[in-house]
Parts: sequence; C-alpha cells; structure tokens
Amino acid sequence: MAKMMFEAINRQGTYTTKYDDAKKKFGTDDLLPLWVADMDLASPLCVQETIRKRAAHPLYGYTVYPDAYYEAIQNWMMKRFDWTVDRESIVPCYGVVPSINFAITAYSKEDDGIMIQTPLYPPFAGSVKHKKRRVFDNTLLYENGKYQIDFEDFEAKAKESTLFLLCSPHNPSGRTWNKEELEKIIDICIEHDVIIISDEIHADVIYEKMHHSVGSFEKMKHRCVILNAPSKTFNIAGLNTSFAIIPDKKLREAYRLEQNKSGITNGNPFGIEALISAYSEGEMWLEQLKVHLASNISCVKTFLLKHQLPIDAVPTEATFLMWLDCKKMGLSHEALLHFFIDDAKLGLNDGKSFGKTGEGFMRLNIGTSRKILEEAMERLLHAYREKL
Ligand SMILES: Cc1ncc(COP(=O)(O)O)c(C=O)c1O
Repeated sequence: MAKMMFEAINRQGTYTTKYDDAKKKFGTDDLLPLWVADMDLASPLCVQETIRKRAAHPLYGYTVYPDAYYEAIQNWMMKRFDWTVDRESIVPCYGVVPSINFAITAYSKEDDGIMIQTPLYPPFAGSVKHKKRRVFDNTLLYENGKYQIDFEDFEAKAKESTLFLLCSPHNPSGRTWNKEELEKIIDICIEHDVIIISDEIHADVIYEKMHHSVGSFEKMKHRCVILNAPSKTFNIAGLNTSFAIIPDKKLREAYRLEQNKSGITNGNPFGIEALISAYSEGEMWLEQLKVHLASNISCVKTFLLKHQLPIDAVPTEATFLMWLDCKKMGLSHEALLHFFIDDAKLGLNDGKSFGKTGEGFMRLNIGTSRKILEEAMERLLHAYREKL
C-alpha cells in the first residue's frame, strides 16, 4: 500500500522548479534532477481533495485565516511535539525564508553579529548578508562521519552576537538536535542575551529520535521565534503557507511590524485549506511516508556499500535529503560536479553552495520513488566504472 502511494508523479507541464529550472542550474536538462527540496510524490489524498473542493468554488478572493487554521497548528504542535501553543503566538506567513528576513530586521541592526552553523541551507547566510549584518559561523564539527556542535566556539561567538539562526533539524547534515544539545544552546543564548530564531520546517520528517522544538522549553518563552510549515512534510511548498510561533508579545509585535512593512499579509485560500487538511487528517499518510523515505535512505546506503563506491552517506536522522561525503573519490570539487552532472547525469545540490565546509559533498534528494532512486544509483555506478 505504502509502495503504491509513493510512486513518482510525472511533473511535466506543472512549471516545476526541480525539472524546469534544471537547465539553468546545471547547464543541461539531460539529467535526473534530485536537488531542490520538494518531493516527486503526490500530496496526501485529503489535501488533494480539499484543494479540488476549494477550486470548484469559482471565487478566489482575499481570504482570512479562520479559527480552524490556528486550531490545526495548535493540535499538530501538541500531538507531534508535545508543545502547547497559544493561539495568539501564531503569526501566519507565506514562507519560512521571508520570516527569517523579517526576524533579522526586527531584532538586529546593521553590523550586528548573527550566528549560523555551516554547512547550511544557503538562504540563512544570504539573508544575514543581504541585511548587512555579519555572519558568525559556528561551523559544525565533522568527526567520524557525524556532525556535532563546537560548543566552545558557540559560546565565544554568542558573546558577540544578537541572534542565532538555528536550523532544527539541520539541512543539509540531517542532524536532529537532541535535548541535551538544545539545552546547552539555550543556556548559552540566555546567558549572552541572544535571541534564537529556530527554523523547524523539517521537524516532521524525522526518523527514530524525537524533535524537540526550541519553543517548548519554558525558559525560551520570551527569547525565541519558531518557524514552521506543512510545506516539506506534505509536499505543498508551492502553496506558500507557513507560520511563525512567537510566544513573547514584544517580540511578536516587532516581528509583525516588519512583516506588515513588507506589505505581504494575506494568505492564499489553497494554502490555508491545505494546511488545515494536512494537519488534521494527514498524520497517517506522514507515518507511511516516513517508512518509504527511511527505506529509500537504506537503499542508497546499501547500494554504496555493496558496490564499494567511495562515497560515505552521513547518517540522515531527519529530512528527505542525504548528505554525501564524496571526498574519498579524490576529485577536486569542480571535477566532482563534472562527474555528477556530465558523467552520471545526475542533478544533485552542489555541497559547496552550503558553505566552504560543503566542499567535497553533494546533497541528494531521496523524496522520490524507489524506481527513480534505483535509476540514480545505477547511473552513479555506471559513471564511476566507466569514467573514473
Ligand atoms: C531549512 C529550510 N528552511 C526553509 C526552507 C524554505 O522554506 P520556504 O519555502 O517556506 O521559504 C527550506 C527549503 O528547502 C529549508 O530546507
């Protein structure tokens, strides 16, 4: 049943970034695209049906966020993360990256130091730089194939910083921060008066361990902004529907002011309906999706080992993105890109786009069917045997 649900859907004709922007991204579209972070899999039926029903009504005017929208978020946060969220803490938005930008301007000024942890989803550093703040990079330690936080460096940088942009779970390393790590982060940030902006967009797709929202720590109540969305989880990123959870009134008002200044405060009717439906009825589908994704991850790992390819898959504790350490291939980064794009004809994300420490890495999106993933693995093996 899960297998049938997670066949890849032909996305041609739907203006899909992953396919229709491939040429711009890789210089060719003659490749299997496994990059931008959405999935090739259909959204849950409940979401599809809700959207069809809404679309059947022939009017698509301005739309308010109804009670059901807030309740769906509150229930989801309680059910999944054991976190009681007050309704007034929730501020709807149209994307997590825009919210990061609003938070930066709301809580810091030019030249302030803002901490991030690379290798990292590029818009974090990009947003800090665009707003003319300084990037303080608490580079993650990569030891024995696993990513860890360098707490000594974290504390040193926290002393000089106004904000910390946390990615939890972390993209691209796939790390799920555990309770002890979060406690340490939180204590240091409290001590040095650093506000935490926690991007938790990948929190639902998590394997084995539990996601702890920074917002669920009582001591963070007046010091954090949590950003989340159903977009990654239910494959509805194109509906541009996200939210911030900001329990502290003053922080919330400052954030709202920035969002209002941007002029974008309306939601879109499809995104609102999709969020309500996904969070209210999509939990079973999510559990099945996670089984499918976990099995894709182990398929990649098994394939790499079986064929003794010199690529190490960093443990994926969360997300549908695998972070592949290709350094043992012994190629320069440029040669590595050439190998993936021109020889293997695979469109993965360039590790270096996640920061200097991403050199020698590639990010593989496994949010697809088993068939496509197996095709990708075969291409990789074939190119490795033929070209290297
Ligand atoms: C960590 C992280 N944050 C934010 C986003 C994008 O969020 P949005 O489309 O809501 O701006 C992504 C997309 O890949 C992501 O991985």
